[in-house]
Amino acid sequence: MKKLFIIANWKSNKTTNEAYQWITEFESKINPGNNSDKEVIICPSFISLPSLKAYILQKDLPYKLGAQDISPFTKGAHTGEVNAEQIAETGEYALIGHSERRKELGENDFLIQDKVARAIEAALVPILCVQGVDTPIPQGVPIVAYEPIFAIGTGNPDTPEDAENVASEIKKSNPFVEFVLYGGSVTPEDVKSFTSLPSVNGVLVGGASLDVEKFVQIIENA
Ligand code: PGA
Repeated sequence: MKKLFIIANWKSNKTTNEAYQWITEFESKINPGNNSDKEVIICPSFISLPSLKAYILQKDLPYKLGAQDISPFTKGAHTGEVNAEQIAETGEYALIGHSERRKELGENDFLIQDKVARAIEAALVPILCVQGVDTPIPQGVPIVAYEPIFAIGTGNPDTPEDAENVASEIKKSNPFVEFVLYGGSVTPEDVKSFTSLPSVNGVLVGGASLDVEKFVQIIENA
């Protein structure tokens, strides 16, 4: 059976208290034994990473943590930046190049390339968000999330046919990419239509991951 990645991207939602409530409720509702072939990765705001990590360690849970972004710089005089080494204390993954950051903060492919390099140096796994087959993918990126802009937060997901075509094209033209995920309006109802595709290795979930019930159903239905 192929390995599936199910990733929660909370974006700029949930205080640290709310994040803690979410993980306690999540733990009580999910059966990890049924889902051992799935890598579940939670990407909260930076400030919630340490408390979620402490809870995961204390309860010995099989879930992983990731950041939603990382600094393009290493440590030093870069006010406000959170660097890869800092993230690596609590997380194993970093989302890079989300379309919201490209649009709202003007992130370009050069900056994104630096972020990927910083992640790899710190042994974080970069998960590069791309908007289509034309988005450049720096060498060494093992996981790519295909997230067409029209599908993000709209309730209007891409078709499974498109997702399959894009995923297989990405793998063909970038042989170092091991896994391609789909993201954009993933729900408990539509998740399986994506995770059952031959070239798609999981999903990146925004809105529906904020709700424990929905996220648990997404994991179970994947
Ligand atoms: P959505 O967001 O699931 O709310 O569409 C996905 C994403 O932006 O990662």
